[in-house]
Amino acid sequence: MNTVLVGAQWGDEGKGKVIDFLTEEADVVVRFQGGSNAGHTVVVGDRKYVLHLVPSGILHDAKHCVIGNGVVMDPFDLMRELEQVESWGFDLKGRFHISERCHMVMQWHRALDKAEEAARAEDRKIGTTGRGIGPAYAAKVGRYGMRVGDILKSDFLEIVRAQVIEANRALRALGALELDPDEMVRLYTPMVPALMPYVTDTIQFLHDKLDKGASLLFEGAQATMLDIDFGTYPFVTSSNPTAGGACTGSGVSPRAIDRIIGVLKLYTTRVGEGPFPTELNDEDGEMLRQRGGEFGATTGRPRRCGWFDAVIARYAQRVNGIDYWAMTKLDVLDTFPVVKICTGYRRKDGFVYTTFPADLDILKWCEPVYEEMPGWQSTTSHITKYEDLPANAKAYINRILELVGGKLGVLSVGPARETTLRINI
Ligand code: IMP
Repeated sequence: MNTVLVGAQWGDEGKGKVIDFLTEEADVVVRFQGGSNAGHTVVVGDRKYVLHLVPSGILHDAKHCVIGNGVVMDPFDLMRELEQVESWGFDLKGRFHISERCHMVMQWHRALDKAEEAARAEDRKIGTTGRGIGPAYAAKVGRYGMRVGDILKSDFLEIVRAQVIEANRALRALGALELDPDEMVRLYTPMVPALMPYVTDTIQFLHDKLDKGASLLFEGAQATMLDIDFGTYPFVTSSNPTAGGACTGSGVSPRAIDRIIGVLKLYTTRVGEGPFPTELNDEDGEMLRQRGGEFGATTGRPRRCGWFDAVIARYAQRVNGIDYWAMTKLDVLDTFPVVKICTGYRRKDGFVYTTFPADLDILKWCEPVYEEMPGWQSTTSHITKYEDLPANAKAYINRILELVGGKLGVLSVGPARETTLRINI
């Protein structure tokens, strides 16, 4: 059984936790896009693990973890993270693999990311994580990127030097500090032996596994509304976190995918800039932020919070072909007397958009249309069976399913591993 797991909103839906749970049934976990801009939080017992690049499958001994060709990997972030994983007591030997085709985020990509963001006009700022993601993907698509396999070449350090000199021109034009080519060569020299043991022909590796009947789990980072093609462009990340990205980012055919699971938080959050139709700038928003612990795992930034948006969830269901939903953070809504679901965006002349517009300016003239439902005002975080949920909580979930399509597969009512309810998956 090969599964793709994607985020359905603007990220931070709680994917780490769901991946961790699905990993139990997988043999190989594959990251297919993004880089260390992601932050997956997994709570095991009383320990909290935060991972950025390494698939959370690493927290399960004996599972293989792959960083696919679609990822952009910063070797320094990776090495730091691998050391951390080992310090937590997990053995990496023979089970961690990086694609030779995976592009690297270099120090100058990070510098460019920050300089480009600083140079953007206030209303064009993206609020990037500053991890060099945009410039690394720009280098890939511009065909001057550096791939992991390049470290095996004898001229690797010469290319590093040439690229720093080139990047310095752009940094200078942006008024940013330049990087010292000698210093960069010195920094990257130890990366060659450090990365070498993990460099793999992951396409062959994954297909060999498939031939032997192994189960693959494709772990998406970020989410549908941050997708470079389907998200709120230009306020997006630079990769395809949607289901199709699992294939292009790994070298596994769409024919091999058996099911697609979308992770959906039962309210909405967003980090960084860009439109967010159901955003709440009032005490309800603050309540969601505090109860949901809505602060970024990568940057610590407070997340913007708002009501559930069925327009984007329906859109995500279609774009990804979501079979099952993993709905998360129901417990965060436990105290609200009323819960709201956005079903459309109403223009001043009365026209209601029920699909997400490509032209973001449209949203400036729209207001969300809400359906209000009574809250359940009781604690759900101890519940272990779907049947035992309060009737109003079930009604809320059922109404969402009616509006967005797909089936309920998993429901999460708290941060710990034990608070994940399997419904029909
Ligand atoms: P970048 O991916 O660092 O270029 O940032 C682009 C946009 O995506 C910004 O609005 C970020 O806040 C957002 N973003 C990137 N990664 C994540 C994530 O893992 N969760 C939530 N938002 C993210």
